[in-house]
Amino acid sequence: MGKTIAEKIIEQHLLSGEMKPGEEIGLRIDQTLTQDATGTMAYLEFESMGVDRVRTERSVAYIDHNTLQSGFENADDHRYIQSVAAKHGIWFSRPGNGICHQLQYERIGKPGKTLIGSDSHTPTGGGLGMLAMGAGGMDVAVAMGGGAYYIPMPRMIRVNLKNRLGDNVSAKDVILEVLRQLSVKGGVGAIVEYGGEGIQSLSVPERCTITNMGAELGATTSIFPSDEETRKFLKAQNREEDWIPLFSDEDAVYAAEYTIDLSELKPLAACPHSPDNVKPVDELKKIKVDQIAIGSCTNSSYADMLKVARMLKGKKIADGVSLGISPGSRQVLSMLAECGALADMIDAGARILECTCGPCIGMGFSPNSGGVSLRTFNRNFLGRSGTKDGQVYLVSPETAAASALTGYITDPTTLESVGKVEIPEQFRINDSGFIPPLPPEEAKDAEVLRGPNIKPFPETHPLENEIQAEVLLKVGDNITTDHIMPAGAKVLPYRSNIPKISTFCFGVVDETFPERAKAAGKGIIVGGSNYGQGSSREHAALAPLYLGIRAVIVKSFARIHMANLVNAGILPLVFEDPADYDRIRQGDVLTLSDIFEGLKENRVILHAGEKEIPLRMELAERQKEMLLAGGLLKYAAATGKQ
Ligand code: F3S
Repeated sequence: MGKTIAEKIIEQHLLSGEMKPGEEIGLRIDQTLTQDATGTMAYLEFESMGVDRVRTERSVAYIDHNTLQSGFENADDHRYIQSVAAKHGIWFSRPGNGICHQLQYERIGKPGKTLIGSDSHTPTGGGLGMLAMGAGGMDVAVAMGGGAYYIPMPRMIRVNLKNRLGDNVSAKDVILEVLRQLSVKGGVGAIVEYGGEGIQSLSVPERCTITNMGAELGATTSIFPSDEETRKFLKAQNREEDWIPLFSDEDAVYAAEYTIDLSELKPLAACPHSPDNVKPVDELKKIKVDQIAIGSCTNSSYADMLKVARMLKGKKIADGVSLGISPGSRQVLSMLAECGALADMIDAGARILECTCGPCIGMGFSPNSGGVSLRTFNRNFLGRSGTKDGQVYLVSPETAAASALTGYITDPTTLESVGKVEIPEQFRINDSGFIPPLPPEEAKDAEVLRGPNIKPFPETHPLENEIQAEVLLKVGDNITTDHIMPAGAKVLPYRSNIPKISTFCFGVVDETFPERAKAAGKGIIVGGSNYGQGSSREHAALAPLYLGIRAVIVKSFARIHMANLVNAGILPLVFEDPADYDRIRQGDVLTLSDIFEGLKENRVILHAGEKEIPLRMELAERQKEMLLAGGLLKYAAATGKQ
């Protein structure tokens, strides 16, 4: 049977499991990336593995999210990441160098390779023919240490593109159309592969716009073939040697197929407040615009910027509009400066922002209250712009530029064509924004620089045969990860400081818990049904770990939280008879004995005074080994070394 592009890459990187949809597979990872908001924790986790140097082909630490250094906190984080990267064989991308995904496909990515990144838009690299996936910080740490990345084997979806895009219609409109058809859930558990003769007219940056927003489909990733267009792009980046041809087989099998006729596409917009709430721009033309932001990892390539500059050249933006433009990388910015396009943008009235995520995460360019903001970005959830009631529409660069001139949402096909912007024969190459790691002999003595907010990853404990400890907290049903570890502005600055963030643990349920747990040194939590539902945040396991929790016994677990507990080396247990929940009180001292024997049967007996209560384990073999090693990081460090 023929294979899809993704199946070919998976086959070459398969470390464990069978390639049957839904079955767990373990993959060897060639490249990793982190950004600063998730990176500090990923590197603290990596350090705790005790691995000297990364075992990937290339790992890069980007600073692109919180680049402002108005207080010591971000500056300290950046310095920590730079020093930890230098010591452990990781490349460092300075603040201002650009947005991680843009830089990754420009300068680092390679067709046929696997990439995971601690950022959900890592699938951008699929436009270059990579198998590129977003992952948790701990997954990235494990991959850097040489461990596998585990996912359920995805099903394959094919989107066939035919004909060519019309004037002033763009790649953004293609992915908005896919979102309109498939919705934000349409890609869950799937890899979306693009094919058909229509792809030949799409450059790598245009393909990357499409794969970038595959994340909004919920897809594992999206991917394009690596063809002559890919070779052309890499050659223009002085990297032709990184090119390999990569196509699906003619008889490859897909779970579903869709066809989009590019020539019929009209400019589209994702209306507030969901990326799949897509309407033709033409239907929105009476809406007045307050703010326009052009950039982000979706639409900040040289070609995107050049199209905008051509539309603005010699004109002036509407008085009621504030226009901010963030080029995706230093390369894009310097080329715009060199060809004069930057001056055209400035002369038209645009504000030029740093080459970072900036407005995309509400950093420094939020709309006015209730304001309409047109953005070339990928997400428009309520509040993401930094303004609670901001009305964000996601559009193409052409639609954004056309609307900037009129002050109303404007269909760019009603304006003069800016023509297709071809890939230049040669991009401007200057890698001064990347700092290579120290050579191994120098790295040994290099110091990792930690500001006061950077604290080591908490100590994990290999599972012991017996656990005797007090029930430090008993909670009811439907406890969410927000109950366990609240988010919010007061808490978030301490993501790299587990001792401090732990003082907020379960604060909404019982604010004495953190102090009591710390004093006890060791404890057990008892909970009801659906314990740990909600977001996947790993701090909801790391804070209890730091506070000394060794086991959590509940009526039932939310799946991801249970996996996070195992990753942290905390034993998750389930009442065989849910009614036994009522036989345990907060303050009881419990004994779990013969745990090692119990692992074989996935069953253990709990002793509470005279009472004997049977408990179930719902652990896969790999998870048992992880618990015995003392959590995922220690397990991965041990297995990666083999
Ligand atoms: Fe940055 Fe926004 Fe992309 S935060 S990585 S530009 S989604």
